[in-house]
Amino acid sequence: MGLQDLRIVNFIGQHILSVDQFGRADIERIFEVADRMRPYAERRRITRVLEGAILGNMFFEPSTRTRISFGCAFNLLGGEVRETTEIKASSLSKGESLYDTARVLSGYSDIIVMRHPEAGSVAEFAAASRVPVINGGDGPNEHPSQALLDLYTIRRELADKDRAVDGLKIALVGDLRYGRAVHSLVKLIALFDNITFRLVSPPELALPEPYVAILKAAGHAVEPVHQLEAGVRGVDILYVTRTQEERFPSQEEADRYRGLFRINQDIYTSFCAPSTVIMHPLPRDSRSGARELDDDLNSNPNLAIFRQTDNGVLVRMALFALLLDVADKVDDQAREVPWFTGGREPE
Ligand code: NCD
Repeated sequence: MGLQDLRIVNFIGQHILSVDQFGRADIERIFEVADRMRPYAERRRITRVLEGAILGNMFFEPSTRTRISFGCAFNLLGGEVRETTEIKASSLSKGESLYDTARVLSGYSDIIVMRHPEAGSVAEFAAASRVPVINGGDGPNEHPSQALLDLYTIRRELADKDRAVDGLKIALVGDLRYGRAVHSLVKLIALFDNITFRLVSPPELALPEPYVAILKAAGHAVEPVHQLEAGVRGVDILYVTRTQEERFPSQEEADRYRGLFRINQDIYTSFCAPSTVIMHPLPRDSRSGARELDDDLNSNPNLAIFRQTDNGVLVRMALFALLLDVADKVDDQAREVPWFTGGREPE
């Protein structure tokens, strides 16, 4: 199935498998709907627009925020969530094919989110599904909803500084080889103009060539750097990533890259411009040998990692609303929240 066939036309009933499906107008539409979700995500208003709808949330790889924020996003629109979280708890472990699993589960759900360790698996599943499927991460390949929430965050953080995404200088730091969040994000940002991509990684964990080719073909500056201090200088956004240990051929090999690039407040103060925004798709690896993003940055106001996770709910609500065609009905019969929400300030 060529992704050309999947280009977004009007969102309704479509799968979201790759950021290749999006043009700038699609991104604008998603972000405009995401903005309108804020009162609901922040528990100021309640909507039941998806009452009766069921999300099949299928996560065959570890996940905290993607799984839970997709689930919460669906709940906040009034829908119900059914979860499957392990291959061994599903009939896939009895030899059932993705095709059969998709035929069955799409009879039980109105929409499905799926994460799976193999690249291309979610597209294979979607081809057999009778309802829309959103890729929650397929191995090292793609993670489109993460890229959307990251771009949404970048845009908001820059807007606070009266800047647009065009002209952005971004450093992507860490495991650029296996990081699917990075793979989707660079392609999405490449839709904008005049971007500088600083690619900061050990040579063995460099961004794979096909992605570099896409960025260059779109006319952007691509700067591979193998040294942290030089890599972080003069950028607007610092996007730090975890070594994707689970994707390496052996733990021994993964261990070689542990803790190689660590951003802490000292490095930030010495080498970054004072307004540099710090992002990370999370989880950050806070074990002593790793710490790619040190806890001593927690009180740095430019640390945007928890604004990213909050924004994830808005963007995922927007995707559900668009794919299930309720984006313009969310406010119908919405009401105020009756319970105490005063202790929960947004990030
Ligand atoms: C990322 C993922 O699973 O690709 N996490 C996430 O979804 N926020 C990044 C990672 O695991 O390092």
